[in-house]
Amino acid sequence: MSRPLIEITSVAKSFAAGGAGRERTLALDHVSLSIAEGEFVCLLGPSGCGKSTILNLVAGFEAADSGNVRFDGAQVRGPGPERGVVFQQPMLFPWLNVIDNITFGPRLAGVSPDVYGPQAERYLRLVGLQGFGQHAPYQLSGGMRQRVALARAWLPKPKALLMDEPFGALDAQTRLVMQELLTSVWESTGTTLLFVTHDVDEAIALADRVLVMSARPGRICEEWTIPFERPRKLEDIVADPRFGELKRDVLKVVRHEARAAAALETSL
Ligand SMILES: Nc1ncnc2c1ncn2[C@@H]1O[C@H](COP(=O)(O)OP(=O)(O)OP(=O)(O)O)[C@@H](O)[C@H]1O
Ligand SMILES: [Mg+2]
Repeated sequence: MSRPLIEITSVAKSFAAGGAGRERTLALDHVSLSIAEGEFVCLLGPSGCGKSTILNLVAGFEAADSGNVRFDGAQVRGPGPERGVVFQQPMLFPWLNVIDNITFGPRLAGVSPDVYGPQAERYLRLVGLQGFGQHAPYQLSGGMRQRVALARAWLPKPKALLMDEPFGALDAQTRLVMQELLTSVWESTGTTLLFVTHDVDEAIALADRVLVMSARPGRICEEWTIPFERPRKLEDIVADPRFGELKRDVLKVVRHEARAAAALETSL
C-alpha cells in the first residue's frame, strides 16, 4: 500500500448548539482515518453523524478541537488547491458560461490563459462536455451541471478530491452515468477520492474501501475492502454474489447506526 495522503488521528470536533445555555454538540469523537495516495474511499453513515464535518476538516474549512489532521505529511491549516471539493449542488456562477466557470479559480490566481485554456479543454473532454464551453448553466441538465463542477474541481490537478454526496440530487439513470464517468476520470488521473454517500450500492460499486460511521458523536465503526477488480463494469458487479453479501453486511451496520441516530434525535 502506498503512503497515506490523508491522515486523521484521534480527532474531536464540537459545535455551539443552538439556544442559550445549551451544551455544545459533539459531532466527532476519537475519529482516526488514513487514506492512501490514489485510493478511492467511500464514507457512509446516518444523517448528522459527522461525514461533512470530516470533509470540512480535511478541506481546511474547519479546525479540529483536538487531534490531528494531516495532508501529504503536513498539518492542515486552511483550504488549499491540492484539496478540491465537490458538493451535492454544483454551485456554478449562473452569469458565467461553462468555460468561465471551470477556469474561475486559475483566472483569479492570475494563471495564464495559455496554461489553463488547454487544461479546461482536456477536462471538458474528460467529463464529456466538449462543445458546451460557451453554454450558460441554465442551458444544461442537472447531470451536466455536476459534470462542470467535476471539471472545475479537477482542473487545478488536486491531489485529493473531497466529494460530499455529489450525485445525491441526480436521478437514478444520471447517477449511473456519473458514477461511470467519475470512475474513468479517477482511473486516468489517479487522484485520491474521499466520497460521502448515503447509497450503499454506490459505495460498494465505486470504492476500494467503504467506511461506515456511527451515530453522533461519529466514529468510524466498520470498514470493508472491496474485492472487485478494475476496470469495473457496474452491471457485472451487481451480478457478482459477493456484491449481495457485502451489501447485506454494510446495510446491517448502516441501519443499526441509523436507528441509533433516530433514537438520539427523538431524545433531544
Ligand atoms: N457549523 C455548524 N454549527 C453547528 N452545528 C453543526 C455545524 N456543522 C455541523 N454541525 C452539527 O454536527 C453534526 C454533524 O454534522 P454533519 O453535517 O457533519 O453531518 P453529516 O453526517 O454530513 O449529515 P448529513 O448526512 O445529513 O449530511 C450534526 O449534529 C450537525 O448539526
Ligand atoms: Mg453532510
